[in-house]
Amino acid sequence: MAINRTSSHGEWSSRTAFILAATGSAVGLGNIWKFPYITGENGGGAFVLIYILCVLFIGIPIMLAEVYLGKRGRLNPIASIKYIADRENRSKNWQLIGLIGIVAGILILSYYGVIAGWTMAYTVRTAFGTLNNIDALGAASMFADLVSDPERLLAWHTIFSIITAIVVAKGVKSGLESAVVRLMPALLVLLLALVIFSAIEGDFYNGFKFMLYPDFSQVTWTTVLIALGQAFFSLSLGMGALMVYGSYLSSEISIPQTCVIVASLDTIVALLAGLAIFPIVISSGLEMTQGPGLIFQTLTVAFGAMPGGQLFGTLFFILLIFAAWTSSISLIEPMIIWLIEKYNISRIKAAIIAAGTAWLLGIGTIISFNVGSEIKIFNMTIFEFLDYLTSNILLPMGGILITIFVGWLISKENIDSELKIKSRVLKASWYFSTRILAPIAVIIVMLNALGFSTNIFL
Ligand code: TRP
Repeated sequence: MAINRTSSHGEWSSRTAFILAATGSAVGLGNIWKFPYITGENGGGAFVLIYILCVLFIGIPIMLAEVYLGKRGRLNPIASIKYIADRENRSKNWQLIGLIGIVAGILILSYYGVIAGWTMAYTVRTAFGTLNNIDALGAASMFADLVSDPERLLAWHTIFSIITAIVVAKGVKSGLESAVVRLMPALLVLLLALVIFSAIEGDFYNGFKFMLYPDFSQVTWTTVLIALGQAFFSLSLGMGALMVYGSYLSSEISIPQTCVIVASLDTIVALLAGLAIFPIVISSGLEMTQGPGLIFQTLTVAFGAMPGGQLFGTLFFILLIFAAWTSSISLIEPMIIWLIEKYNISRIKAAIIAAGTAWLLGIGTIISFNVGSEIKIFNMTIFEFLDYLTSNILLPMGGILITIFVGWLISKENIDSELKIKSRVLKASWYFSTRILAPIAVIIVMLNALGFSTNIFL
């Protein structure tokens, strides 16, 4: 059985290496760019609370299931699931999970690269002192100026895509471990410093209150779906990224503990980002609901006002680029190993094809902020549509299929021998969540938010 199989793409050198890589995948723009702005759009505290509940009761259990599939299958997501389905005498149509994942990964990467491009543009601006003493108005017009220029966005997006392609072409493991081990702690320290600055200089009381005090009067099914989608997005779930990383795990390593560590680190970073941003949003008179530009404008004001802000801000943005980069690697890796295994092409070719596809699709996101802002799909701009489709539909759908497949269709002995959860209570909770709670909760939230009332609570 799984015991002696290893991935043909190599293995992590240790458990720590896996934790680092998975954390590198999880911590990214999702925590620092997306979490604050969607929390701002969705009313603050109640959204944060629902988000945390989704991470705990749905995200972590699915994460275990997903890493399990990869560690047992040891191939690309499609082939891993087919291999396991074969062994368990289940239909090979379950491979569909892998396919949805590969598509979702490339769609996410297509806009992820554009936002990472904004981060690069802001690194340069901060480094050159353009931000010094800038006020909220100046920050807003600087942001509007950037996103209204498709050529500039395309240039940065191209640079980011090339960097991603070069790194994945070399293979994920060389370099990734040492980059993450140094840069993640640095990012955490700078983030903490930013929280302290924001607590002193910003409107500490109201910022924290906005984020931590739950007001449920604004909560709708859509809010819950967005929180759920964000849990998937931030933990890198539902698309096979962690399946691939799990497939590089050596067989004696315990999955559950590792997953809890990764999820905790990811959530801490998101909460810190919120605590750093909101007090400044309030004190500088920026709008909570301004959407994707929120952190860029807020951080600009913060770095502009901070003693040493030029250096601090530059470092912060550089670390954010790295965080985005370690995440984008995991978005592209499933497609890469699928191309390599299926078409027997070199890693370099696979990297060029996958990154090229994401780059091309990214043009849709670029124009949705300027010349193509009038193009609407279901009343959303191209960027909003891609984000909605991936975070709120494809990833949760992948999640449901993973929980049903792992929870119901794989024999318990096989799961137990791989997961090795010692505590009885924890084991029972994991089974309960994977078999019942997670799939049912995700289905109810999706149906209601998409307009099919299940008439249960609201
Ligand atoms: N989790 C990353 C972030 O928060 C984004 C990401 C990387 C991702 N790999 C993923 C999202 C796989 C969904 C699925 O920025």
